[in-house]
Amino acid sequence: MRLSRRRLGLSTRAVHGTPPAPGAHTPVTTPIVQSSTFTNEVGAAEEVLYTRYGNNPNQRSLAQRLAALDGGEAAIAVASGMGATALAHLSILNPGDHLIACDWIYGGTRRLFEREFARIGIQVSFVDPSNPRSWKARLRNTTRAIFLETPTNPLMRVLDLEPLAALCHTEGIALIVDSTFASPINLRPIEHGADVVIHSATKYLNGHSDVIAGVVVGTEEMVEEVRQLMQVWGQALDPHAAWLIERGLKTLDVRVARQNANGLAFAEWASGEKAFAQVHYPGLPSHPDHALATTQLDGFGGMVGLEVRGGADAAERMLRRLRLAQHAPSLGGVETLVSEPRVTSHASLSPAQRAAQGIPDGFVRVSLGIEDVDDIIADFARALRQPRRA
Ligand SMILES: Cc1ncc(COP(=O)(O)O)c(C=O)c1O
Repeated sequence: MRLSRRRLGLSTRAVHGTPPAPGAHTPVTTPIVQSSTFTNEVGAAEEVLYTRYGNNPNQRSLAQRLAALDGGEAAIAVASGMGATALAHLSILNPGDHLIACDWIYGGTRRLFEREFARIGIQVSFVDPSNPRSWKARLRNTTRAIFLETPTNPLMRVLDLEPLAALCHTEGIALIVDSTFASPINLRPIEHGADVVIHSATKYLNGHSDVIAGVVVGTEEMVEEVRQLMQVWGQALDPHAAWLIERGLKTLDVRVARQNANGLAFAEWASGEKAFAQVHYPGLPSHPDHALATTQLDGFGGMVGLEVRGGADAAERMLRRLRLAQHAPSLGGVETLVSEPRVTSHASLSPAQRAAQGIPDGFVRVSLGIEDVDDIIADFARALRQPRRA
């Protein structure tokens, strides 16, 4: 078909997946095939369809769109972002192998690496990426992969992928990138040399705070390995959840464009407020990675970190007074959410460890939704100014 000779834009890929062959009475949206199993002919050697195997039509249709969006050979959707992280690593690492992980990662992922991987004999070294030489210094002859998130949670640091990809390829190891905060609209790590991309699809990809899911994108061979693990570790995604994510993907590009605009407007407003000691947003010239973000990202994102003066008490006072922004973990949905890394994503770190990473107790993470940003700014402004009740 002529369409396939030209590379389709991201939004077109998200809306159409593989354009269907023309014909009458074809459903415009993928129907939900809410069936655990499928009949097969007696004696036939064809593939057996069973939803836990990941070959339900909804799972397949979603996977195809996800691969197209991130520019990978193949993709697979699984039951959670944590499931995606676990399976992607288990497809590459065996007992006795070594992983180098960035220090600035989601707390759940850190727990998986520190507690669960240790139990099965996979060693993990954590690296402070502010010293770019430390990656190479941690290499062992058993190292099989480097893992990082970019932009990072909750400081929105942007890591330079290309030198790391070059190091990984020289060493013959994999670069695995959790790109949840960026979504494929703002960053496609494979274009920068990454081998494997992970998303918590719970966040931007679905975008409506009503599904838990994860994604792994990579080569056909690697994704097939993840599929094999998914089948036996029981990580398949329910067809209805797959359908909801496919629907969410159709508006991903316009949602993220709005969230990029809202993130920038909110961060610019917040940086003029005395109540905040610091505002972390890669679109601000004051952000340490602003120059890199300008070249590596297609948008600065909808995530903003605020350091509230006065510590946890002052942060909680502000949070209690918000009316529109809702206090809930998670991010990337159409509604603005606020959370405190101290009690959510980074609760497993000690206060000293958090402080060492630049996350003081008064830190508030804001995930901008698609509301009118003036209303969100007014909500925060009111929450900061309202006098304290006796
Ligand atoms: C960057 C990142 N990766 C992975 C996860 C885990 O995703 P899920 O909650 O879908 O398992 C999260 C969850 O907050 C996250 O922020």
